[in-house]
Amino acid sequence: MILRRHPLATTYASRVTSPPGAIRTHDRTVAARCADLVVDAVVRLARLVGALVTRAAARLPGPGVAGTGSRGWGLLTRALHLRPDVLTKPSSLGMRRLAITGIAVNVFIVASGGLVRLTKSGLGCPTWPRCTRDSLLPAPETDIPLSRMLIEFGNRTLTFALLLVAVLVFVAALHLRTERPDLVRLAVIQPLGVVSQALLGGVTVLTGLHPASVGAHYLLSVLVLVACVALHIRAIEGDRPPRRTLPSRSYLLATLLPLAGFLLLAAGTVVTGAGPHAGDESAPRYVFLGVDTVATTAKVHSALMWLTVLGVAGLLVLARRAGRLVVVRRTYVLIAVILVQGAIGYVQYFTGVPEQLVLLHVLGSALFWVALLYVRFAARDRGPAERVPGDALTTPEVQPVRSGA
Ligand code: HEM
Repeated sequence: MILRRHPLATTYASRVTSPPGAIRTHDRTVAARCADLVVDAVVRLARLVGALVTRAAARLPGPGVAGTGSRGWGLLTRALHLRPDVLTKPSSLGMRRLAITGIAVNVFIVASGGLVRLTKSGLGCPTWPRCTRDSLLPAPETDIPLSRMLIEFGNRTLTFALLLVAVLVFVAALHLRTERPDLVRLAVIQPLGVVSQALLGGVTVLTGLHPASVGAHYLLSVLVLVACVALHIRAIEGDRPPRRTLPSRSYLLATLLPLAGFLLLAAGTVVTGAGPHAGDESAPRYVFLGVDTVATTAKVHSALMWLTVLGVAGLLVLARRAGRLVVVRRTYVLIAVILVQGAIGYVQYFTGVPEQLVLLHVLGSALFWVALLYVRFAARDRGPAERVPGDALTTPEVQPVRSGA
């Protein structure tokens, strides 16, 4: 089979082949061919998925909506403020909106995972990938309340919604691959993230909700959110070489902040792993400091928050001094999120971690992370997105963005 050389494959292949003397000529050819094969397979698969989605949408009953002839698809795209042909002819605006949708659903899934834990439904489906030993769907079991089963099963089903959005994001990015290969590289992380989360979810159930697995499940979402936010940022900016927007000290601070933020989140998962909301009464708990485990880990967790606050305050001062309005504005948003999140944290700690507050705290943690990432990305710049009049991707609402590189 002769495979067309894909532009993305060229990029991958040149990356693979570029280090001087690192790879022999024979290996280089093999690597380039492999890259070709992989990229070509992915492109074909994505096209197939795109065609299937469009065909499925067209089969839905009801009067047509411009572009697809489907009411369901039209409702979905209208709800997301997207053109119906966003998959086959994504505009820059459509790509940005899909990227934001990716962020929103990933934040939502973090909160829905929290809901499963707080309703003690973590083992509502006691096995994986089936819900019960004999059934893929919830079935009345002797000792598991049906409500817990439905909540856990509902959360598993949400995976498909998340996957659908991830595939839509990826398919749209693929259509811009020639102009903006970066978008494809970032977008592919979303479907891969969903699949990894589904597998890790299985490990979590099969280990009886071990806190390390529950924590890893949460932190994987945090990492996927990095790719989601990066995709949105790349979709709204140009393609000039990245340059710092802050003096080197402030830039370093902005770079260290996500590390502190990640430690803060990781410490939060340890508090949760020691706390009362395990997701099921039978789940193992962290007890490495005996009865003091919750209190001590919560202190470390809040100390990390104060460390992050110090860093954020320092960055605000430096960014104001440097006159970097974008950084300043985003830092104010981050400070507002931290204030609310920190207040919820203290109140829940001193009131015996009531479920409703914990749920808000989980949601707030994802919003905190997103706000922090936007601050970090404001510390570098790749120029404004170029406007190209008459671009084939033009939408009625906005002129498209094309790469300058
Ligand atoms: C920006 C500030 C904060 C962030 C981003 C944050 C984030 C988190 C995260 C990610 C978790 C784990 C959620 C999970 O595994 O489902 C958590 C749990 C927790 N956090 Fe925070 N937190 C913050 C501030 C605080 C503060 C100031 C306190 C006060 C001591 C606090 C108390 C707790 C407690 C008690 C838990 C365990 C709740 C449970 O049992 O599920 N947090 N936090």
